[in-house]
Amino acid sequence: MNGARILLGVTGGIAAYKAAALTSTLVQRGALVDVVMTAEAERFVAPLTFAALTGRPVFGSLWDAPERIPHVRLVRENAVVLVAPATANALAKLAHGIADDLLTAAVLAARIPVILAPAMNDAMYANPATQANLATLRARGYGIVDPEAGFLAERERGIGRLASEERLLEALARTLERSRALAGKRVVVTAGPTRERFDPVRFVSNASTGAMGIAIAREAAARGAAVTLLLGPTLLEPPAGVAVWRFESARELLDLALEHAVGADVTVATAAVADWRPATVAAHKRKKGADVLEEPMLRNPDVLAELGARKGATFLVGFAAETDDHRANARVKLRAKHLDAIAVNDVAGERGFGVGRNALTLLWGDDGERDLGEGEKPELAARLWDALEARFACS
Ligand SMILES: Cc1cc2nc3c(=O)[nH]c(=O)nc-3n(C[C@H](O)[C@H](O)[C@H](O)COP(=O)(O)O)c2cc1C
Repeated sequence: MNGARILLGVTGGIAAYKAAALTSTLVQRGALVDVVMTAEAERFVAPLTFAALTGRPVFGSLWDAPERIPHVRLVRENAVVLVAPATANALAKLAHGIADDLLTAAVLAARIPVILAPAMNDAMYANPATQANLATLRARGYGIVDPEAGFLAERERGIGRLASEERLLEALARTLERSRALAGKRVVVTAGPTRERFDPVRFVSNASTGAMGIAIAREAAARGAAVTLLLGPTLLEPPAGVAVWRFESARELLDLALEHAVGADVTVATAAVADWRPATVAAHKRKKGADVLEEPMLRNPDVLAELGARKGATFLVGFAAETDDHRANARVKLRAKHLDAIAVNDVAGERGFGVGRNALTLLWGDDGERDLGEGEKPELAARLWDALEARFACS
């Protein structure tokens, strides 16, 4: 914690007094702590307490020194944000992008990791609205330190107590360590489907949404990498803090990949690239006409193989979406395309596509294999980077 720059957000819950004790511990361990309080938090604990503990001003308003754009400056100058306690209200605002005070505006402007530690009455915590907000925030890559069961302010027992100081410190330490894991690395991620045009209104495509690649790009950025995301046609939002280039067809992706991925430290190719494209693109919408349409298809360039042929010192990771004989097919790809590792997922039906859960296995070398298990895509992205860091550290 020595020298760590921490932005501590305090919102208006009973547990706000525990944030003062946490601040004291952080300062004793050598951290530099900036405290932002909501107006409601100031009803529970005086800003003076935090100012005295940190020896620094406490921030409460967007408007105190607007010429310094405090919400942006605070998240640029710090390495991590911890909101403890996080009220149900603050979680709801953050899940919906509301930025009507300094704390919510700063969190929304953050490209640094954000940890939220909810604390509230057990019914508020169990309420489907709060649970849905937490699920949204978790899926966007926010760290959540779950509340604990125990004695609540209402003199009842239930789940809603702020996590213990030990767990909050552990989450901070883990996040700070993780935020440096890819510092100085240039990472390129390809994501999403391709569209191969057939006429002005039709195309051949696939069920990929880019969700896995977006999660991998977001996680790499959270670990300190300079990330470029080459993103196909999808309605999903690319992560903040990442350079984004859009492609539509396999050939456009190839051009972008050769420009950005050659020379990168790590390239993770998750894009679902069409193997074929219609031989001709009609200038006008094709008429219904014949019962059977015979359309010749041409082979597309193999983007991954082209990258493999030029990879130099880049650590190149492919993705294999297979419907059968997963491992054997993936190992063939690993060798043939000169990849350093390949992540395999089973896409029978539309499993593996879209936002939601997935299951991955990472393969490398002749027989290296690590099961990354099943989980939400942001969780799997974190496990994938843990496994990759271990691999390229020893390659
Ligand atoms: C005595 C008291 C205790 C409260 N404790 C909590 C709490 O622990 N968690 C919570 O989510 N809200 C709690 N609230 C409600 C919040 O203070 C209220 O939703 C407020 O608008 C939160 O503002 P903020 O999120 O901007 O800090 C409490 C309110 C009162 C009056």
